[in-house]
Amino acid sequence: MIDLVHINKYYQNAQESLHVLRDINFHVNAGEMIAIMGPSGSGKSTLINLLGFIDRKFSGSYLFEGNSLLRTSDEKLSKIRNQVVGFIFQNFSLIENNTVFENVELPLLYGGLSPSETKEKVLKVLKRVGLEGKEKKYPKQLSGGQQQRVAIARALINEPKFLIADEPTGALDTHTSEEILQLFKDLNEKDHATIILVTHDPEVVSYCHRLIQIRDGAIIEDKELNR
Ligand SMILES: Nc1ncnc2c1ncn2[C@@H]1O[C@H](COP(=O)(O)OP(=O)(O)OP(=O)(O)O)[C@@H](O)[C@H]1O
Ligand SMILES: [Mg+2]
Repeated sequence: MIDLVHINKYYQNAQESLHVLRDINFHVNAGEMIAIMGPSGSGKSTLINLLGFIDRKFSGSYLFEGNSLLRTSDEKLSKIRNQVVGFIFQNFSLIENNTVFENVELPLLYGGLSPSETKEKVLKVLKRVGLEGKEKKYPKQLSGGQQQRVAIARALINEPKFLIADEPTGALDTHTSEEILQLFKDLNEKDHATIILVTHDPEVVSYCHRLIQIRDGAIIEDKELNR
């Protein structure tokens, strides 16, 4: 599905050039659930921004299903991003003044669906993440775990080819983290979702098939796990 070949990235400022990704090579197969670990500042977010078509300023090649998106226009790339990848963040990134329904519906607004098709999709995905009946609530009326489920529903609504989650359990207590991890595992096993998770937490890693360790912008370990 994904091929990264000899990826290098630098951040340039007036004084210095920072080499943030160093000769990154890896391959992601559809259906994998991968953990990326590494110290703060090691380049994890930089790497997933690149994987999620947010950042195109790098050298080397990124092939998605065999195609390079290097020459795609920004406008077309935004559309592809919206269709192909679902993002989930530590702080949920929900819109506080929108209901659960409106938050989950958002990525569909560019798709030209009728209101009834939209409603059907949103209610179906809310049910999938265990939030049946919560569509009229506002984020503040939900627990942290429920808010993260809303974010996962929003990430799933366009039936993306893969999910990227940056510290998805970082703001949750242990018990709620386990519930969210179980949901990711279930999405991976039952719905064959391809999932890439950034984490500091060994508990998260125990739910994954594969662990990639990053130090100073380089992959120092890439191993299969028995979960
Ligand atoms: N826009 C930017 N301009 C310059 N340097 C940047 C920029 N974004 C990140 N960096 C630097 O690139 C390096 C990698 O940052 P990145 O955010 O990818 O780390 P991270 O592994 O996600 O860290 P954390 O665990 O704290 O989230 C860091 O040294 C950071 O300071
Ligand atoms: Mg980060």
